[in-house]
Amino acid sequence: MIVVFGSINIDLVARVPAIPCPGETVLSPRYETLFGGKGANQAVAAARTSLPHQVALAACVGDDAFGRSARDNLVCNGVVADFISGSAEPTGCAFITVDERGENAITVASGANAALTEAPVLDFPVNASTIAVLQMEVPFPASFNVARHVRASGGRVIWNFAPAPPAFSPRDLSDLINETDVFVVNEHEAITAARLLGCETGNYEEAGAYLSRSGCLCIVTAGARGAIAFHPDGRNEAVNAQPIRALDTTGAGDTFVGILASGLDEALPLRTALQRACHGASLACLAHGAQPGMPTRDQLIDA
Ligand code: RIB
Repeated sequence: MIVVFGSINIDLVARVPAIPCPGETVLSPRYETLFGGKGANQAVAAARTSLPHQVALAACVGDDAFGRSARDNLVCNGVVADFISGSAEPTGCAFITVDERGENAITVASGANAALTEAPVLDFPVNASTIAVLQMEVPFPASFNVARHVRASGGRVIWNFAPAPPAFSPRDLSDLINETDVFVVNEHEAITAARLLGCETGNYEEAGAYLSRSGCLCIVTAGARGAIAFHPDGRNEAVNAQPIRALDTTGAGDTFVGILASGLDEALPLRTALQRACHGASLACLAHGAQPGMPTRDQLIDA
């Protein structure tokens, strides 16, 4: 079973010719209201590509229309939503601008996500076949307690260090990695994490290799270049991404993490799980928004 512990947001998305600079205002003809949040996105990506009832999300929403529709959307996508709690704070909201090349800039108003605690997961039947999936949009102490709990029960932890917090302590990052089996970062997050731990590099491959020496498998996603897995023993394996013309890269990393989790949950060989995750992330970029383009199990397996 996969337990995703993380954020739920409603994404308010405006498409613009170019992302505004500080102090600049740009006009967009309209905006869309879409389902998002790294936790919810990863849970949906995992659920669409897993066998039924294999994915649960522990998260927190407000007592508002956004929270109710986000929960309904998760259920429609096959995510077990029994561990979603409520808060007096509003449901998290992400303000997203997407430019003509499909690149984005995102501001997240955390709201109820900041009230999430580890309590729901401590009640969850965790065992050696549990995979916890964590990110950085909910309180770190709660995520860390979930990781410890799952590992103490013999389960595995996939930790996506996204968004990389600007002020994270080296001590917290070492603790995080010590409770992580698979550490997933993009190129920038890899460099940020390696620098925090004392490796002054601007090269994501060097950063990934350095991070894996802490004892976890470090997977660096590199957009159109695919992904590289750095093993603690110094080996690495790279997989390519299919060339695509991206409409919107929002949620591509989340799709990668969710599909990777479903592949590892199915005990696929790592290379196969990585290939599926890269393929799924590419497909997700062919539609607007984080979740609409995420593939189903059949779309991935038939490819
Ligand atoms: O990774 C994409 C997600 O980041 C969006 O859905 C948005 O909600 C933010 O959390």
